[in-house]
Amino acid sequence: MRTGVWLVGARGSVATTSIVGALALRSGLTGPTGCVTELPDLRGPALPAFTDLVLGGHDVVTTPLAKRAETLAAAGVLPGRLVAALPDELAAVERELRPAPAGGTQADRAAATVRDLTDFRRRHGLDRVVVVNVSATEPAARPHPGHADPGALAAALAGPDEVLPPSSLYAYAAVRAGCPYVDFTPSTGLRLPALVALAAECGIPYAGHDGKTGETLVKSVLAPMFAMRHLAVRSWSGVNLLGGGDGATLADPAANAAKVESKQRVLGETLGHLPQGGTRIEYVEALGDFKTAWDLITFAGFLGTGMRMEFTWHGCDSALAAPLVLDLARLTAAAHAAGHAGPLTDLAFFFKDPLGTPTHSLADQWTRLCGFAHRLHAGGTDAAPR
Ligand SMILES: NC(=O)c1ccc[n+]([C@@H]2O[C@H](COP(=O)([O-])OP(=O)(O)OC[C@H]3O[C@@H](n4cnc5c(N)ncnc54)[C@H](O)[C@@H]3O)[C@@H](O)[C@H]2O)c1
Repeated sequence: MRTGVWLVGARGSVATTSIVGALALRSGLTGPTGCVTELPDLRGPALPAFTDLVLGGHDVVTTPLAKRAETLAAAGVLPGRLVAALPDELAAVERELRPAPAGGTQADRAAATVRDLTDFRRRHGLDRVVVVNVSATEPAARPHPGHADPGALAAALAGPDEVLPPSSLYAYAAVRAGCPYVDFTPSTGLRLPALVALAAECGIPYAGHDGKTGETLVKSVLAPMFAMRHLAVRSWSGVNLLGGGDGATLADPAANAAKVESKQRVLGETLGHLPQGGTRIEYVEALGDFKTAWDLITFAGFLGTGMRMEFTWHGCDSALAAPLVLDLARLTAAAHAAGHAGPLTDLAFFFKDPLGTPTHSLADQWTRLCGFAHRLHAGGTDAAPR
């Protein structure tokens, strides 16, 4: 199944790491550590192989991909030997990157995006293209009457207003081009009534939101433990220090607020109450793509005895995120091929702020994901295959 993976934010850290990783896997230069779709419970014939993936994308900057990869290698995010071994492959992906459409109305920009996606699909004879948003985190969308339904949206986009934030305009274009859409960021993306209705009308599956790669991943394992042992969590405070492009974006209070909200959701929904404390994100340029999260939890046990635990997570964000981007592209492509449409709630395992109201416990999410993959491999679906 020849599958296009179209990365929005294609020259960013996560995208560049995903591209180098996919090329290295395709060439047999590295193993699939971190790719959960290569675990025995998820592996199977419904998923496109790494050799079936063709990469492309949009970005607003023009830094050559090879230069981005070299910078990430110098920072210790990517092995330099892989970047050095893949110059032709990186040059081939470079030819598939397009500037983010600019100018005109939002309808014009959406039409240009649809053209880029359909040209890419045609040029490479792809069965489908999965659009994955890994671009910079945006502030929450401003309400607009055009968000209500597809008709109102189409009319509004043709006018002078900035009706949709960029993530939602890409989601709109993806749906219009017949492409499944994955949002790896906390941005609005497809989460607007008009876009949800349009995706349903067009039979497009979508997944999101905000990849779960660090502190929240640990929270989604620990919070269910406290709940299952009937221990009373009194406070949970976290500090995240990060650098890189994502850290710089999150220095903006509006983008920071969107991210913090998505990071705290797991606690309220798993524990049944929101304990005292919050999550803070601070930009520390010197950390580059590495992140340190420090969490302190206070809790009470039998007879109210007070206790505490703390953990420190030192993660390389892009190295944790990139294999999940490839997993999501493979699973979403298989879901589209099997006829799934609408929110792929069984992919909650991958996200901080999953679609629908599934469980936030990583163990329960894993069970759901395995069931979903098993049904895909067995050829079972509620809808007709395409
Ligand atoms: N790394 C992780 O562990 C992780 C986890 C969850 C979510 N995320 C999210 O993934 C996203 C990417 O992270 P990153 O570290 O690669 O950030 P980054 O800043 O390195 O990359 C973002 C890229 O998006 C591009 N971009 C900005 N606006 C755009 C637009 N309108 N159209 C096309 N491209 C645009 C930028 O030019 C940049 O190249 C962020 O939103 C981040 O919150 C990352």
